[in-house]
Amino acid sequence: MTKVLIATDKPFAPAAVNAIREVVEGAGYELVLLESYTDKAELIAAVADVDGMIIRSDKATREVIEAAKNLKVIVRAGAGYDNIDLEACTEKGIVAMNTPGQNSNAVAELALGMMVFLARKGYNGKAGVELRGKNIGIHAYGNVGKHVANIAKGFGMTVYAFDPFVAKEAIEADGVKAVDTVEELYSTCHYVSLHIPANDKTKKSINYDLLNKMPEGGILVNTARKEVIDEEGMLKLMEDRKDFAYISDIAPDCKDEFAAKYEGRFFFTPKKMGAQTAEANINAGIAGANQIVNYIEKGDETFRVNK
Ligand code: 3PG
Repeated sequence: MTKVLIATDKPFAPAAVNAIREVVEGAGYELVLLESYTDKAELIAAVADVDGMIIRSDKATREVIEAAKNLKVIVRAGAGYDNIDLEACTEKGIVAMNTPGQNSNAVAELALGMMVFLARKGYNGKAGVELRGKNIGIHAYGNVGKHVANIAKGFGMTVYAFDPFVAKEAIEADGVKAVDTVEELYSTCHYVSLHIPANDKTKKSINYDLLNKMPEGGILVNTARKEVIDEEGMLKLMEDRKDFAYISDIAPDCKDEFAAKYEGRFFFTPKKMGAQTAEANINAGIAGANQIVNYIEKGDETFRVNK
């Protein structure tokens, strides 16, 4: 029997697992569940005989891919697929996919939620500031960036965006001011919200010089990946610019230094929470399950990422 594994060290909401089960069992397949595992050996054992698998930020390394002897298709229920060894998948003839857009609203809501939290000093009773009238820069105008732009407009913020892969006209059509360079985005905006993927070009690209262009009271909001931040540069900036703050859904490796020195100028979620809503889990989970069934039954490769 065709087997589909859900391997999530950060489990989906139960309603999402049920919805995935309906799709998988409806196709006549068996669903296998590995949740909250703590050792990669558990993942390696679980993949041994599955035909398809759904993961989140779980690391599908070469070792995992090579242990999955029957695997035909792996779906990252989410946007970023930097956790999958695509080369290993391609070598083994395995199709890798993501589910773009399915969890974007949840991530965007968290970005704005964290901004309000910091602006109101963690709700500690002291006077904070408002978002209305501030400039926000969307760094990469994809699915999440668009949602952030929309919500920010509702807060009365002025929204700017930089994305070399999206036509300026398309950005402007959404009532967002498109800027020509990344430097312009950072020097114009009080808040910059990051929505770039982590790849060879973007890793450590958010550095001291770029962040230092932000105006007085600049705040970087990261719901993307910690790897895009040059942490050494970030720490130097925190030291040099007492007005600067950093909010992230992915705590940096140097988080202890923030805790020790920069109280009130940062906020990090204890665990990556952006996509952790029942709605996002259901949307991305069902999409992933359908993509697996459609690939196995019809060879449909929509959203394949290892072309
Ligand atoms: C994504 O790339 O879709 C988000 O970072 C969500 O990741 P998660 O599924 O691990 O919460």
